[in-house]
Amino acid sequence: MRVLGIETSCDDTSVALYEDEGGVAENLVSSQVDLHDVFGGVVPELASRAHLVNLLPLIDALLKRRELTLADLDGVAVTAGPGLVGALLVGLSTAKAVAMAADLPLVGVHHIEGHILANHLTAPMVLPAVVLVVSGGHTEIVHMPEVGRYERLGGTLDDAAGEAFDKTAKLLGLPYPGGPQIDRLARQGKPGRFSFPRPLQHDPRIVFSFSGLKTSVRQACDGLPRPLADQDIADVALEVQEAIVDVLVLRLFQAARRKHVQAVYLAGGVAANGRLRERTAAEAVRRGLHFLPPERVYCTDNAAMIACAGWHHLRAGRRDGLDLDSFARAPLASWR
Ligand code: KG4
Ligand code: ZN
Repeated sequence: MRVLGIETSCDDTSVALYEDEGGVAENLVSSQVDLHDVFGGVVPELASRAHLVNLLPLIDALLKRRELTLADLDGVAVTAGPGLVGALLVGLSTAKAVAMAADLPLVGVHHIEGHILANHLTAPMVLPAVVLVVSGGHTEIVHMPEVGRYERLGGTLDDAAGEAFDKTAKLLGLPYPGGPQIDRLARQGKPGRFSFPRPLQHDPRIVFSFSGLKTSVRQACDGLPRPLADQDIADVALEVQEAIVDVLVLRLFQAARRKHVQAVYLAGGVAANGRLRERTAAEAVRRGLHFLPPERVYCTDNAAMIACAGWHHLRAGRRDGLDLDSFARAPLASWR
């Protein structure tokens, strides 16, 4: 079975193929970072328009690269949500048109399931597992007994971890998205000059709170000469990253203990963070748990993860009709 995946939930237009033999055959991403950078964040209407311009040429390019036609496909998988509804609709309408034109089964995919199954693209996941889902819009911990079954164990009470990276990066004058910038600059940072809060650290629940971090970073920056020196930015970046990663790692292993699982995973854009990967790997070794980080290219939004999730659903006989709708938000555990 060869599945075409389509992802347009936010600011990346992406198409991919996932096949029985060999998994991901192709994954093309057209980034809109330059388009949104001047606004310091994603502008929904601009994102929808860019998807509209880019999506069909990208599908065309994908098929040409593999010397395939629509007749060589066995199914279409598309992100139905959560995400920007206008952006999602471009992907959904295109997926329906392709499915209708080539008489293919269509399946809608929950974006977060896609992020989780990005781990499956490297090697079959060791299950049951707990997964830390950390992206621009989500921060939650999910128990996964098997592919297709998800139980939410807890999550953020306010901002997502990716949002915390992006907002604090903005205060440091760094371009959007800020996560990769903080990751890069923190490597030149000297520890110990600043200290940022780790809220709810002693709360027995699996909860996060990142909204206070902005205020603490703003206060730290207020005491520094302007324009900010490169070393000051690097030192703040290092401690912001430490504060975020500390609580993420703490909760991931708390959840693993609670569910008695032997494996932990990271998913979502923030899973590309070098420090998070390093700390999770070290802690997993210390506790004798299995951990393999997802490939960095499959951490941020991509269609390979959607094609993979769609492949699993189609193989299990799940199909959606041409009336498949988009959604701005819906919990993974209860969607479907
Ligand atoms: O999963 P994703 O591509 O989109 C959403 O579904 O939200 O995640 C994007 C988020 C952004 O907040 C971005 O700053 C963050 O992931 N991110 C990172 C890194 N790469 C992307 N955060 C920290 N370190 C990184 N290396
Ligand atoms: Zn995402």
